[in-house]
Amino acid sequence: MKISLSTKQIPQVACDLAIIFVGENWQKEVSFLGKEITSLLLEVARNENFIGKENQSLSLNLYNFPTKKLLFYAIDEDIKNIHNLQETLAKTIKTAEKNSRKKIALLPYFKWSQKLPSEVLAHAISKTFFLSTYRFNKYQSKTPLPKPKIEELIVLTTPAKLSAFETGINLGKIYAEGTNFARNLVNEPASITTPSHLAKTALSLAENKLVKVTVLEKEEMAKLGMNCVLGVAQGSDHPPKFIRLAYKPPSVRTKIVLIGKGITFDTGGLSLKPSASMETMKIDMAAAAAILGVFSKLAQLKPKIEVIGLITACENMPSGKALHPGDILQALNGKTIEVLNTDAEGRLTLADVLSYAVLKEKPAYIIDLATLTGACMKALGRDIAGLFTNNPSFAQKVKQAADNQGELLWELPLAKQYQEEIKSSIADLRNIGKTSYAGAITAALFLEEFVGGIPWVHLDIAGPAYKEKETALNPAGATGFGVCLLLHLLNLLENK
Ligand code: BES
Ligand code: ZN
Ligand code: ZN
Repeated sequence: MKISLSTKQIPQVACDLAIIFVGENWQKEVSFLGKEITSLLLEVARNENFIGKENQSLSLNLYNFPTKKLLFYAIDEDIKNIHNLQETLAKTIKTAEKNSRKKIALLPYFKWSQKLPSEVLAHAISKTFFLSTYRFNKYQSKTPLPKPKIEELIVLTTPAKLSAFETGINLGKIYAEGTNFARNLVNEPASITTPSHLAKTALSLAENKLVKVTVLEKEEMAKLGMNCVLGVAQGSDHPPKFIRLAYKPPSVRTKIVLIGKGITFDTGGLSLKPSASMETMKIDMAAAAAILGVFSKLAQLKPKIEVIGLITACENMPSGKALHPGDILQALNGKTIEVLNTDAEGRLTLADVLSYAVLKEKPAYIIDLATLTGACMKALGRDIAGLFTNNPSFAQKVKQAADNQGELLWELPLAKQYQEEIKSSIADLRNIGKTSYAGAITAALFLEEFVGGIPWVHLDIAGPAYKEKETALNPAGATGFGVCLLLHLLNLLENK
C-alpha cells in the first residue's frame, strides 16, 4: 500500500476512483469538472436522490478519461477539529474500499485547505489512510472480507502546495506506522506478548545507533529496590523485565521520560477479576506498546530532545506465590504501600518506575500512560483519556499535541481533599481509596506521591486503548492510542 501526490486534476489523473468531497453547495462546487461531466452528474444525482446530505455518497462512471470513476462524498463543511476530519476521511476511505478499487485519487475539500496549513492537512490524510486500512487478521484462516485492498492513494494538490504536502504525507505515514506497530503488539494474545517478548521487541528497536535499549532482569530490579513490581510479578511464572530505551541526538537541552504501564495480562491477582472483565485484559500493556511504537520511529523522525522510555513488564496472576491483600511493599523511593487490592497493580508498578525516573533520570518532564482504572472509563467513556497533572503549562503542551493528532483527552482534577482516601493506618499509602468514589482521581493522587514535583502528566487510557466495535479509523481491538500525541509532543518540546 502506498501513498503519492499528484498535481494533475480530475478527470485527467489516471486512477480507478477519484474521491471528491462536497458540501451543501455541491452543484456549484463540482463545476471544475466541466459541463459534460456535471450535466451527467446532475442527472444521476436526481435519479439517486443525492442532495448533498452529510455522509451521502454518489458514484459516477466515466468513459474516455484517465479517471475511471468519481465518488462524491457529502460532508459537514465545517470541520470542527482534527478528530472530526480524520473520522470523515476514514469513512470515505472505507466507502472507497467497498468499491474494490485499487488506485484511488483523493481531492481534499477546498474549505479544509482554507482552514488548515497544507502540512497539517496532508498529515491527517496520510495518517488516516494507513490507520483506517490497518487489519489484524493473521489468526483467521479465512479473512471475512477478501476484497482487494486499496493499493495506492494519490492525494491531489497544487504545485504551490506540493512541498508542504510532501512533508505532511511523510510524517503522517510515520505516525501511523508507529501507531500500527503498537496496535500489533496489543492485539497479540498475552500468551505471545509476555514480559520477555516485550523486552525482545524493545531490543529489536536498538538496531539504530540513536536508540539504545537495556533490559534488567529480576535480580537487578531487586537491587534497584523495585519491590512493588516484583510484588506484582511474584504470582506469575513469567519473570518481570525492566526495559529502558534511550534516544539521545547531539546537542539537546531538554530531557523527557515516557512511561508506559506494561502489565502483559491482568487477572486481578488474588483479588481476581470476574471472567467478563478479564476477557480483554491482554490490553493492559497498551501503554507500554505505545512507548515502543514511539521508539520505533524516533530514529526516523529525529526530534531534538532527549527521550527516555521506561517500561516494567510483568504479569498479574493469582498463585500460591502471589501477593496477598494486606501485604506491604516498599517502593523504590522508600515509601511503603499497603496492598489492599491486588487488582490495583498498575499503580504499584508505576510507583517504582516513576521513582526511578525522578531519582535516576532527573528529566525536565515525565509523562506516564496507563490503562489504569475502570473508574476513568465510567467518568469519560470509552473514547476519551483522562489527563492529570501537577504542571498546567506542561499539560497545555500535551493537550495541544492531542488536539493536533485528533486524540481525545480531558483533564480531571488532582483534588487534594481526596488524598485522605489513600492514607493507610499501617503504611504510608494504601493502593485503593477508602471509598469507591473518584477512583481515577485517587489513582492519580497515588502516582503523584512518586513524581517528586517534576512537571508531570498522567494519562489514564483505559477507555481509548481499545475498541470493542470497529469504527472507520479502527478495526475492533487495539487503537494504538497515545503514539501520535507523544510523537507530536516531542516535536512541541524540542529544545525548550
Ligand atoms: N487494568 C485495570 C484497569 C482497566 C479496566 C483497564 C478496564 C482497561 C479496561 C486495572 O489494573 C484495574 O484493575 N483497576 C481497578 C482498580 C480498583 C481495584 C481500585 C479497577 O479499575 O477496577
Ligand atoms: Zn488490575
Ligand atoms: Zn491493570
